[in-house]
Amino acid sequence: MTWVTDLAEQSRSVMPRPMWEYVEAGADDGITTAEAAAAWRDVRFAPRVLSGGPVDLTTDLLGDVLRTPVGIAPTSLQRVAHPAGEPAMAAGAAAVGALHVVSSNAGHRFADIDAGSPWWLQAYLPPDRHSAAPVLRAAVAAGARAVVLTVDTPVPGPKRRPPEEDWAGTDLSWFRCNFEEPGEVRWADDLAPADIGWLHEVTGVPVVVKGVLRADDARACVDAGASAVWVSNHGGRQLDRATTTRAALPRVAAAVGEQVPVLVDGGIRSGLDVLAALSLGADAALLGRPPLHALALGGADEVERLLSRLADETAQALLLAGCRTPRDARGIAVPSGPTSP
Ligand code: FNR
Repeated sequence: MTWVTDLAEQSRSVMPRPMWEYVEAGADDGITTAEAAAAWRDVRFAPRVLSGGPVDLTTDLLGDVLRTPVGIAPTSLQRVAHPAGEPAMAAGAAAVGALHVVSSNAGHRFADIDAGSPWWLQAYLPPDRHSAAPVLRAAVAAGARAVVLTVDTPVPGPKRRPPEEDWAGTDLSWFRCNFEEPGEVRWADDLAPADIGWLHEVTGVPVVVKGVLRADDARACVDAGASAVWVSNHGGRQLDRATTTRAALPRVAAAVGEQVPVLVDGGIRSGLDVLAALSLGADAALLGRPPLHALALGGADEVERLLSRLADETAQALLLAGCRTPRDARGIAVPSGPTSP
């Protein structure tokens, strides 16, 4: 348990019950969700010495200069967690210079989200790709600096959802308010590398592919024009028993890490977890559930507190590991335990 995992329990009393259950859920038996955090704690380091100096967390991602390698992964229903929703999440991220990735199912208009710090739009593509063009263009017009294509969701993963009637008292009228025709989310089950090029053409901004767990897929994404690859299993909410992101990261980083930035999420809950991710080849580490917990507990201020504490922990971990920058952490992981690289 870390103070970050404690936020989950603390937020239980302030979030509507179905929302809290929805946030915590993993797919099926929740095996992948349960393994995520422990896998990072299995990583062991061989710290450098005689290489010290002030730590600088500055992280350059696709031309944006961030003050920390820790960012916020996209999650829907932020407006249920807190009425101030995405704009509050953005303000918390902006206060510490962190990347904020906004779900296309956001509950506030994109134009109201920009808080002066770089943000990216996450998108699912529908079966008829062109119907997504207006919402994508609206996001870019409102300041989205990149589009993140989530590729692990041909269908929503089988989660034990709270029954419909449990949501009865929750206002969801704003759901997908950025779409011309809100309605249900529709997912394409036939995404292909060509969609990456299409997305870039339609938006004119870099395309990041989220949900990659294999080296060959990472290679195919970059060959198709992806500007970054995001190692993710959707917080264990899609294919249960999918490998941990900790296990997948070194393979993906070896395949494409020299060419494009590699991002990772899933069970990152401390500065030491961030160090583990950086040491295995990530350029940035993102969190999904904890920022939602923080948002519910105290809006923008609590999100800022979460990110700023994680940045402090990461800086301290780097210092103790003899690394001055996030990039210096590459290669300080050493083989250990059953999940060794
Ligand atoms: C998500 N995630 C997600 N991913 C995405 O690409 N688009 C989305 O709209 C959502 N929505 C969403 C809602 C909720 C409630 C959760 C918990 C997650 C996945 C998210 O971006 C991320 O990959 C994981 O949450 C990371 O794992 P941790 O940090 O939650 O362990």
